[in-house]
Amino acid sequence: MNDPTTDSRANDLAGLTAVITGGASGIGAATAALFAARGARVAVLDLDPGGVPGPMLGVRADVTDDDSVTAAVDEVVAAFGGVDVLVNNAGIGASGTVEANDLDEWRRVLDVNLLGLVRTTRAALPALRRARSAAVVNVCSIVATAGLPDRALYSASKGAVLSLTRAMAADHVDEGIRVNCVCPGTVDTPWISRLLDAADDPGSELEALRSRQPTGGLVGMDEIARSIVYLADPRMCSLTGTDLAVDGGMSGLRVPRR
Ligand SMILES: NC(=O)c1ccc[n+]([C@@H]2O[C@H](COP(=O)([O-])OP(=O)(O)OC[C@H]3O[C@@H](n4cnc5c(N)ncnc54)[C@H](O)[C@@H]3O)[C@@H](O)[C@H]2O)c1
Repeated sequence: MNDPTTDSRANDLAGLTAVITGGASGIGAATAALFAARGARVAVLDLDPGGVPGPMLGVRADVTDDDSVTAAVDEVVAAFGGVDVLVNNAGIGASGTVEANDLDEWRRVLDVNLLGLVRTTRAALPALRRARSAAVVNVCSIVATAGLPDRALYSASKGAVLSLTRAMAADHVDEGIRVNCVCPGTVDTPWISRLLDAADDPGSELEALRSRQPTGGLVGMDEIARSIVYLADPRMCSLTGTDLAVDGGMSGLRVPRR
């Protein structure tokens, strides 16, 4: 596998500014690091941007708060002069059937996973319209296209992200703004570590997560980062309105149990 820091493409995204929500951990942090290694200016909008390494710009922002998001995007534009790429990655999980969570929890999760994306995109659109080649990449999930047990609320939020990706792609194609999403399977991030820590038997829970993906393993954060950078790459100027599954074959394959 190529190391982006030594790769011959290392500076191919120079001149671009990428904004990544939830970029202080997991998939977002891996994506921020890859954009930076490929020469882009990177701004991370996160509840807790304390650990974001320079020269990336870490901005404290809560995607559930319109003023906070607008101020953060203004700060990025003031610092970097514009926004070319927006990665809507900030998200939270929820477990249970449709009966399990009370309506306040439904509102809370939708507020982050769906309305958070709406707020950030609306705040960034004026700058994206001024960009020479603009792209929005939304971080969706396998749950948008496959029914998994005990994920009713989370699935509803990500199903909405998938539909909204296509709708936004249609709305903004004439403005030169491409909109795509990536649909990861189970990715080895701090989120999954927390989930395993809370399980009665973390070892068998991890085995269950691995074995439901036909490749037999969790997806690496770097794989999702590479997919996001690919979807955002200005040279992929015909790529819009798509959902890219990076899920170990989970959504598309029917492999008999061995
Ligand atoms: N890990 C997986 O298996 C997996 C699979 C499919 C999709 N995803 C999606 O990938 C995205 C990132 O997941 P991850 O596993 O890297 O999670 P993570 O918990 O490691 O990171 C999430 C980041 O989002 C930030 N965040 C949360 N709420 C926020 C808010 N209101 N405002 C701003 N920032 C906020 C957190 O501070 C954190 O830095 C999420 O949208 C998630 O739904 C993850």
